[in-house]
Amino acid sequence: MSQPYTITTAISYPNGRPHIGHAYEVIATDAIARFQRMMGRDVFFQTGTDEHGLKMAQTARDRGMEPRALADEMSAYFKDMDDRLNISYDRFIRTSESDHHRASQAIWQAMEANGDLYLGRYEGWYSVRDEAFYDEKELSEGEGGQKLSPQGTPVEWTVEESWFFRLSAYQQKLLDLYNSQPDFIQPDSRRNEIMRFVEGGLSDLSVSRTSFDWGVKVPGSDGHVMYVWVDALTNYLTGCGYPDDAARMARYWAEGGDITHIIGKDIVRFHTVYWPAFLMSAKLPLPKQVFGHGFLLNRGEKMSKSLGNVADPMELAERFGVDQLRYFLLSEVTFGNDGSYSAEAIVARSNSDLANSFGNLAQRTLSFIAKNLDGRLPESAARDEDRELLKSVSEAADIFQKSMMDLAPSAAIEAWMRAVFACNAYIDAQAPWALRKTDPARMEAVLATLYEAIASLAIMIQPVIPASASALLDQMGLDKDQRSYDAIGADCYAALRASGFTLSAPKPLFPRLELTEADA
Ligand code: MSP
Repeated sequence: MSQPYTITTAISYPNGRPHIGHAYEVIATDAIARFQRMMGRDVFFQTGTDEHGLKMAQTARDRGMEPRALADEMSAYFKDMDDRLNISYDRFIRTSESDHHRASQAIWQAMEANGDLYLGRYEGWYSVRDEAFYDEKELSEGEGGQKLSPQGTPVEWTVEESWFFRLSAYQQKLLDLYNSQPDFIQPDSRRNEIMRFVEGGLSDLSVSRTSFDWGVKVPGSDGHVMYVWVDALTNYLTGCGYPDDAARMARYWAEGGDITHIIGKDIVRFHTVYWPAFLMSAKLPLPKQVFGHGFLLNRGEKMSKSLGNVADPMELAERFGVDQLRYFLLSEVTFGNDGSYSAEAIVARSNSDLANSFGNLAQRTLSFIAKNLDGRLPESAARDEDRELLKSVSEAADIFQKSMMDLAPSAAIEAWMRAVFACNAYIDAQAPWALRKTDPARMEAVLATLYEAIASLAIMIQPVIPASASALLDQMGLDKDQRSYDAIGADCYAALRASGFTLSAPKPLFPRLELTEADA
């Protein structure tokens, strides 16, 4: 049986519609999940919405509706976005689902059984926007003396009866974890930040609320609902079958299992301090890695409703194409760093790489074969320069795979692009069109080489632009089982040619995108 691989995004607050930052995270995670499936792994990929907590309750109240109705309405937009962006999730979880309540109560009871929960009284600062408690020493002062969290969000003084989790008891265990598993937190800059935070000492964490009731009920403690992050983090276990499905847990949430959380840099603390401490307390396995990606900025500026610069990913996908948007985000932004988007940048990147370089390469080669050989696949008779081109494509595929394993999609795409350039340079040097009259056999050999190279390029890039890559591979006659990385460099071309497949006039894959005046 193939090796399991579990990968998750953060689950988003459905207190508004999704924005491009949400799209970015789920697209990056989808590319990695698709890549791992192509590597033959048994992938479980989960995403979804985080529906409890004060932020949801307050937004619902402001809109004069029940939190559940708000969650139903907004969660549907997230799911539609995922479907529209071709996200291959295995489960879209909503934390209001009953199996999730059950899982959250089970982890609570396990932490309680371990002696880590006690009843007390919380007095301190809380940010509703971050759904987070902060120490006085972490705060700064904003306009009018308003105290602000490290994320720049307002905090309010909160006093209420609350259950506490003995986080202070986990300081050394967490430091041991970071030291013995240096890849647990990635990239390194985030790891350093978290190590400093934990070294500074940990206070016990307030883990229940009594001032509102929109949440998972604390077992055996009337009037308490869980702090939203306790149930939110538990979503990862719910999807893996916790607590009832032991076989599923053994597969997707096992000790030493390949489990990766992809999240944004603002919530690394929750995933690398609280989450492993909860899991240790409940005697459950830990994830292998938490990767904190950067933020997506609008022309270098933070997106915010008040600035009116929050981009709707559906509008961008509608206008520029789903694969164009996916390709842009994954190639333009180094995973882990912040990045900027703008209509100009999407158009420029898509036109240069997809339309002009790759699309044009495929289009002119395939239409030439369709026209001049009546769709019959050209006969190969490889010379050194042909073998060299195919070798450079294979080498690019190796780098592509290694980069994707390392969660570096932009490096993977760069390797792919270099191979596309090599093919274009080869066409210019071999000039097959000129050989039509002078040396038709050589013309066929060149076209055969290109056919094989283009098929390999399309196979390679599938995780990034799945719909376009598979449309091209369909046109080129490759069966679904010939589209794995093993097929690259494995001389599948001879078998395809022998099958008698004929090529029809190809349809262009990537139209040239245009800007409008409104983009200036
Ligand atoms: N509900 C919590 C996560 C719970 S996970 C157990 C949450 N939700 S969120 O809706 O605010 O954010 C969801 C994800 O989107 C987070 O990983 C966050 O970092 C990411 N992003 C939010 N804005 C972003 C950008 N502008 N750019 C990139 N990612 C961003 O936090």
